[in-house]
Amino acid sequence: MGKRILIVDDEPSMREVLGILLDKEGYNVDSCDGGVSALRALQSDVYDMVITDLRMPEVTGIEVLRAVKSTSPETAVLMITAHGAADSAVEAMKLGALDYLTKPFQVEDVRRIVRTALGNATSRAAQNLSGAGERSSFERIIGRSAAMKEVLHLLPRIAASESNVMITGESGTGKELAAKAVHELSSRQKEAFVTVNCGAIPENLLESELFGHIKGAFTGAVADKKGLFEIADKGTLFLDEVGDLPLSLQVKLLRVLEENAFRRVGGTDTIRVNVRVIAATNKELGEGLKEGTFRRDLYYRLNVLPLKLPPLRNRGEDVESLILHFLNKCRPERTISPGAMDVLLRYPWWGNVRELENTIERIVVLCDEPVIREEHIPEEIRMPEQLPLPQEIPSGGVNLDGIIEDIEKRYLQKALVKAKGVKTDAARLLNLSFRSFRHRLAKYGLAVREEGD
Ligand SMILES: Nc1ncnc2c1ncn2[C@@H]1O[C@H](COP(=O)(O)OP(=O)(O)OP(=O)(O)O)[C@@H](O)[C@H]1O
Ligand SMILES: [Mg+2]
Repeated sequence: MGKRILIVDDEPSMREVLGILLDKEGYNVDSCDGGVSALRALQSDVYDMVITDLRMPEVTGIEVLRAVKSTSPETAVLMITAHGAADSAVEAMKLGALDYLTKPFQVEDVRRIVRTALGNATSRAAQNLSGAGERSSFERIIGRSAAMKEVLHLLPRIAASESNVMITGESGTGKELAAKAVHELSSRQKEAFVTVNCGAIPENLLESELFGHIKGAFTGAVADKKGLFEIADKGTLFLDEVGDLPLSLQVKLLRVLEENAFRRVGGTDTIRVNVRVIAATNKELGEGLKEGTFRRDLYYRLNVLPLKLPPLRNRGEDVESLILHFLNKCRPERTISPGAMDVLLRYPWWGNVRELENTIERIVVLCDEPVIREEHIPEEIRMPEQLPLPQEIPSGGVNLDGIIEDIEKRYLQKALVKAKGVKTDAARLLNLSFRSFRHRLAKYGLAVREEGD
C-alpha cells in the first residue's frame, strides 16, 4: 500500500499541482477543498502526511494541524503559507508541524520534504497493518464523542491486563470489534482469537464445541476433536452472547476459569490451557442473576474488567464520521448532499452502528448517482416511526400534548393496518390492553370495523 497524503487547499490550482507532483512520486493522494472537509476526511482516514494551506476561510490550517495532532500524532504536517505570514508559520511549528513552505515555492522543495518525511518515518498506516493490508481493529474504531473517548482510553489499559473482560452494550454497538481490539493490543496478539456465539450453538453440542470430545464419546463422535478452548490456547476466547449459556455449561466454564483445566467430553485426561476470556452480552445480566438463570460466581469471574459500549444515540458527534467512513469504505467516489446528511443525522439509530452500516450499504446499492440525495434514503429512515427528539425547542414554544397525541394517533393507525383491522391484534402490537386500545381509538375518533371482527 502506498503512503497516503492529504492535500488541503482552497485553491484548485494548488491542489492540482501538488496532486500531480505527488501522484507521480507514487504516493496515494487525496485532496480537500478546505478545512471543513479536511476535518471530515481526517476522522475517517489515517494519512501519513497532510499538506495544508494555512489561510483558509472557516477552518484554518492551524485548526487542521491541531486536529491531525490530536487524532494521529505521527502524521507529518507540512504547512503552506503566504508570503509575510511568518508568525503563523512559527505558531504551526510550535504546534508540531513538520515544516512550512512559503508561496510561491519550488516543486523541488516539496518533493524533498515529502521524501525525507515519508522515507525516514515508518508510516503509521503501514506499522499497523495486521497482515493482510487491513488496519487494526483499534484503529478502525471511530469515536470522538465523550462517551467513545472513554472507551478508546480504556481499551489499551484493558489489553495490558490479563484479567477477563465483560463487554456490555446494545446490539450493534461494536462489542465484537472492541473484543478484537483488546486482543490485538494485548501481548496475545500473535495467538488465536476465537469467537463462540453461545446463543447460536445448540446446548447438546456446545460442551463438545468448547471443550472437545474423544472418539466414541457420543454417537457421531467418530474421531477425537479439539475444543475451542484448546484452539484458543495462549490466545483469547470471545464468548459472545454469554447470557445465553445454559446453566450446565456455566458450571463447566467457571471451573475452567478457576483452574485453567478441563476434560474433553468422554475423556479422562486433564487438559491445561492458558486462555483469556472476553465475554459479551447485549442483555442485562442483572435479571438473570436475580432469577438464577445466570450464576453469580461466574458473573464475577467474567466481570473483572467491565467495558460498557454506549448506544449510538448517545454518541452525537460520531454519527457523521461513521456515515462518511462507511460510505468511503464501500463507495469512495460517492459523496453525500448536506440534505441527505441531515436526514441521516436526525435518525435515532436504535440498531446502533450495525444499522447505520447496513443502511449506508443499502443506499449505495440503490443509488447509482455520484451524489447521494434525500430521495435515495429509504423511507423508514427519512420518516422514522420512532420520532427523533427535537433538535431544539423554538423560542415560541411547542404544544407537547399535541405532539404526543399526534404520535399516539399514528401508532394506533399503523397498528390497525398491520393487524388488518383486528383490534385485539393491534392492541397486542402496541402492548396495550384491549380496553385501553379501544378507549384511545374512541378518543381520536378512529373508525374501525365493529365488534366481532
Ligand atoms: N466505533 C465504530 N467504528 C467503526 N465501525 C464500527 C464501530 N462500532 C461498530 N462498528 C462496525 O459495526 C458493525 C457492528 O459491530 P459489532 O459486530 O462489533 O457489534 P456487536 O455489538 O457485536 O453487535 P451484535 O450485538 O449485534 O452482535 C461491524 O461491522 C463493526 O465493524
Ligand atoms: Mg456481536
